[in-house]
Amino acid sequence: MSDATPTAPGNAPLDPSQKSMDDLVALCKRRGFVYPASEIYGGLNGFWDYGPLGTALKNNIRDHWWKHMVECPPLGPDGQPVSIVGLDSSIIQNPKTWEASGHVGGFSDPMVDCTETKKRYRADQLICLGRNTEDNEPVFTYVEHDDKSEATAKKKLDKQWKTKLEDNDLCRVSFMEMKPEEYGIIYSPEGSKPGTLTEPREFNLMFDTTVGAIKSDDNKAYLRPETAQGIFLNYKNVVDTMRVKMPFGIAQIGKSFRNEVTPRNFIFRSREFEQMEMEWFCAPDEALQWYDFWKHERMRWWKTLGIEESNLIFRDHDDNELAHYSNACVDVEYKYPFTAPGYGELEGVAHRGCFDLTQHQTHSKTKMEYFDQPRQLAAKEAGKSKEEINEVSKYIPNVIEPASGLTRAVLVLLCEAYTPDESRPSKVYMKFKPKFAPVKAGIYPLVNKDGMPEKAMSLYMSLREKYAVEYDAKQAIGKRYARMDEIGTPFCFTVDGDTAADDSVTVRHRDTQEQERVNISQVEAFLAEKLAE
Ligand code: GAP
Repeated sequence: MSDATPTAPGNAPLDPSQKSMDDLVALCKRRGFVYPASEIYGGLNGFWDYGPLGTALKNNIRDHWWKHMVECPPLGPDGQPVSIVGLDSSIIQNPKTWEASGHVGGFSDPMVDCTETKKRYRADQLICLGRNTEDNEPVFTYVEHDDKSEATAKKKLDKQWKTKLEDNDLCRVSFMEMKPEEYGIIYSPEGSKPGTLTEPREFNLMFDTTVGAIKSDDNKAYLRPETAQGIFLNYKNVVDTMRVKMPFGIAQIGKSFRNEVTPRNFIFRSREFEQMEMEWFCAPDEALQWYDFWKHERMRWWKTLGIEESNLIFRDHDDNELAHYSNACVDVEYKYPFTAPGYGELEGVAHRGCFDLTQHQTHSKTKMEYFDQPRQLAAKEAGKSKEEINEVSKYIPNVIEPASGLTRAVLVLLCEAYTPDESRPSKVYMKFKPKFAPVKAGIYPLVNKDGMPEKAMSLYMSLREKYAVEYDAKQAIGKRYARMDEIGTPFCFTVDGDTAADDSVTVRHRDTQEQERVNISQVEAFLAEKLAE
């Protein structure tokens, strides 16, 4: 662990700004949460593998989302459960999908290359740092949210000016605002001389591939960059086969792929990741009300994962940030260690209007209009004119979309749980809310004799069908507890010398390290209570 790592005082939560990402990434590797993909071949930038514990953590979040979206969705404004169905669509779809959705033409980031270091940057993330004077100064660059590169840029400036510049001596200008004739005075973040950055070029983020044996432009297809379009393609199928009525939602969890220009911050921005998206279809005149509903509902849901309230905020998008399809968008943001004291995106809730269904209607020539019979009857009863009745009962639905990253949620729970504690042998423990912990309980014999292993094994066998529990008889008990602290197991049950006499075992609590005794017959009920939401 880093020398200066602060320790959580008692049981108080530590602010993310005090957590070290390097230490967290090392723990994830050491304890089987996340490994670099194809590590034995030197890895592949932007790709990660989820180890046994990372997979369990990811599945726990995935199941919780599915339960609260599809199986037991929230109550709507009228107090009745809203209606949402599930879907699992193909990763590769007809390429016309991505022309209609706007991804072929518009899903790109501006990138610049450094001709000296051969490194590539997102132009919209480069900030130029210069001395705050009226003269024509050499200007240096660093990547936003990256204190190290800002410090390097500042050192170059100090050296140039032979002085230690204070913060109010410095000015920051976005690279996108620089004029082409000024590129010659900009240093690239890792370059040694100015003028090595190229002009920004638009770079499409979709991975393409070939379907079938012949590689040609006619057979080109794309790996989906979002799960959402698979939902729009099946909107009509679901309406025709599932007896759903407006308003309703279609939910999907699955892999998405983006050839990100600068994948970074561990699994925060990767090139292969998982999304949890729900498209909520509703009448156009009710869309704003539902936008507001889903915005607050999603924030409520994130809090059920045990995330500190002060680490979550809403951030409304400015008009100039809105994606091509969106009328309004708000992000749920989390205070990651690498953004603190600021926040970074976790989920976007977007008002997509009727953009997607209209686009697919135009490109596929399939009618996406919905006939809303209850609204027709209501309008008739209210004595509306024929035109008015038509207008309210025949429409292309509007869509409200809560779209989040499953793998980004894994990162949030890892950051949130990571708790350095110098006082315990492991020096750190993962304080997951028990429901999300990859292992719910360790079951141990204190020593490997006197009938203890048999009793502990019998307890393990009775619990394993219901809960992810682990039996372990190796090493000293302290070492077993230390390992469980590091992987975030909330409880350890130990069969000891007293068990034979009174059928009780000790239960050790991860967060307080306190121990109490419970009767073996009560262990299952104990776990059920602690793992309830
Ligand atoms: N269908 C809308 C859509 O895909 P988005 O904001 O591009 O919207 C939704 O993505 C969520 O997916 C983000 O809030 C983030 O959690 C996750 N996400 C997007 N790109 C990602 C990446 N490269 N790596 C990990 N997660 C990503």
